[in-house]
Amino acid sequence: MGHPYNIEVELTQNSQLEKVDFNNLKFGQILSDHMLVADYDDGEWKEVKIVPYGNISLSPATSALHYGQAIFEGIKAYKFEDDRVSIFRPDKNFERFNKSALRLEMPAVPKEIFIDGLKKLIDIDRNFVPNTAGASLYIRPYMFATEAALGVHPSKSYKFVIITGPVGAYYNKPLRVKVETFYTRAAAGGVGFSKNAGNYALALYPTKLAQDEGFDQLIWTDAKEHKYVEEAGTANLVFMLGDTLVTPGSDTVLQGVTRHSIMDIANSWGIKTETRDVSVKELIDGIETGQVSEAFAAGTAATLTPISEIGFEGKVYKLSDPETRTFSNRVVNYLNDLRYGKIEDPFGWNFIVE
Ligand code: COI
Repeated sequence: MGHPYNIEVELTQNSQLEKVDFNNLKFGQILSDHMLVADYDDGEWKEVKIVPYGNISLSPATSALHYGQAIFEGIKAYKFEDDRVSIFRPDKNFERFNKSALRLEMPAVPKEIFIDGLKKLIDIDRNFVPNTAGASLYIRPYMFATEAALGVHPSKSYKFVIITGPVGAYYNKPLRVKVETFYTRAAAGGVGFSKNAGNYALALYPTKLAQDEGFDQLIWTDAKEHKYVEEAGTANLVFMLGDTLVTPGSDTVLQGVTRHSIMDIANSWGIKTETRDVSVKELIDGIETGQVSEAFAAGTAATLTPISEIGFEGKVYKLSDPETRTFSNRVVNYLNDLRYGKIEDPFGWNFIVE
């Protein structure tokens, strides 16, 4: 039997590859030559195409722009020394994408479009995957409602798109983060676990206020009491508390693939791990007593970024020098070696693009 979706390919006549400075990559500024576009209408996915990267024309009444049915993912691909290209755990992002879709009353995207389409797209643009240290190809799958209608109802039509681009680090220095005790990112029963566009929009203003005070990011806390630590908005939070690696987990927190991978690696090294509520008090007391020896943000874009300082109620609490952190440095080196194909992949996390 053939592929259920015939993925048509139209190659660009105007490649941008020559213009890319692979030795000076920032995050999210350069986009590869092609994109995948699939349209959903009349209850089915049709017209799956890989086409030259370019603008999409939309009705001003496009419902995603009014009512926010819009979700996305972040994935990375790496180049091995022998030039093979590997996508890191896209199956996990595929699962999470469809969980977000369900919560936002959007159709699921079939694996044959998300995973097979992704592999085909990366194969075509494989020369955009950097082989420079610390760099990777960032992959952004997303879906939004396209029905031109102003009534509030689930859209009848959707567009699924994958764009990609070579990137360097999202954060290039340890983070100073502030515990947010007034604004709220997500409440129980809401959409905090999903990767919908609105979760990022609502974070911009409170984050800007913290940045005006000299912080880089927020530590969001629970909606009810602002007593429990949640996530950083652009990444999950992980702490070394005594001899245990701890990460907050509830339906108000994004189920991060990088965080999950780090916890799995820690387990395989015999390090205790816990996904549980962490109170702000436990965190702050732990910094003061030395129980919290490491803290970091973990995400696809952020990879593993150390947290150097935490602001809470007007005071700043300093953590250990990131260079001296045993677990963080060990795990980041291990993850890098695994993703760049320098060591064996005992977990089966690398998806090689043939
Ligand atoms: C990612 O880590 O891939 C994300 O989507 C987070 C975003 C802040 C870039």
